[in-house]
Amino acid sequence: RIKRKAAGIEDVMVEEYSFGRRAWLQKYRGYTLASIFHSQWRDIHSFDVREDDVWVVTFPKSGTTWVQEIIYLLMNDLDTEKASKTNIDDRFPYFEFPYLGLKAIEETPSPRLIKSHLPFSLLPNQMKYKKPKIIYIIRNPKDVVVSYYFFTLKFLKLVPFNGSFEDYCRLFTEDKVSYGPWWKHVSEGWKMRNEPNVLFLSYEDLQMNADKVIKEIATFLGKPVTDEQVDRIKKHCSFESMQQNKSVNYDWLKDGGLANKGVPFMRRGKVGDWKNHLSADIVKKMDEMIATKLPPDMIEHITDT
Ligand code: A3P
Repeated sequence: RIKRKAAGIEDVMVEEYSFGRRAWLQKYRGYTLASIFHSQWRDIHSFDVREDDVWVVTFPKSGTTWVQEIIYLLMNDLDTEKASKTNIDDRFPYFEFPYLGLKAIEETPSPRLIKSHLPFSLLPNQMKYKKPKIIYIIRNPKDVVVSYYFFTLKFLKLVPFNGSFEDYCRLFTEDKVSYGPWWKHVSEGWKMRNEPNVLFLSYEDLQMNADKVIKEIATFLGKPVTDEQVDRIKKHCSFESMQQNKSVNYDWLKDGGLANKGVPFMRRGKVGDWKNHLSADIVKKMDEMIATKLPPDMIEHITDT
């Protein structure tokens, strides 16, 4: 504990998470993060970034996997067969999650595809001058919180939490869920949106204007596509197809006993599903957060339908 304190890591005691015993979440440089990440900050900050890396950076549940699969196809000659053979976590590793490990990612041949949920300020120091391609995606926080609840507490088996859905939503607005505060994370993404090596997207735009957004991603990656190729990507990456696709639907976590059978990772895949779930009080808290915490010129870019 003393060592962690010296490294700038503070416990966040969340009663619903901790069962009165220990903090499951800790604060580091203004962000609340699951304790599993905290042993590796030094390695994260000093990670060797390459100019030809492609990073997907998001607050969780913002459409990360969807965009990862689109990028993977674009970077691999639309080889859907190859994409379907290997789990996305092996093809497009989750940077800070101790599964493959930073060392293995560091040694992967170029061009590397890397996913991270860390905000810009916690990514490796070399990001600033190596300037790899970074795709940052935002999603309406009301849909994010619903998706996050179902993922963390219904899909995964691992997270100790004894609160209700309402409690979880409240914690989200109080910045006490992993990778929060949401508003701080997305504000950092927004600030970077005009950097030439950054492509800033939204889940809702991808839903409503898939052809346009897929072409934007393709151009950004230097892999332009024809209309026919866009159609192939859309077919492979449709919600229904990804829900069935064992290389992206995270069913392997169920086989490993880490997730609950019968609960899908690809849950609804809709814009505005929050209307079926959030109470008036949580909607009010979310609206307050959007109005008071986001940069004013960003607010109109949050699709709140
Ligand atoms: P829902 O829980 O609202 O359904 P992430 O990959 O960042 O964890 O985001 C997961 C969310 O994106 C889930 O949202 C999931 O269903 C949705 N999603 C994944 N693939 C999708 C697709 N092809 N089309 C639409 N939504 C998709």
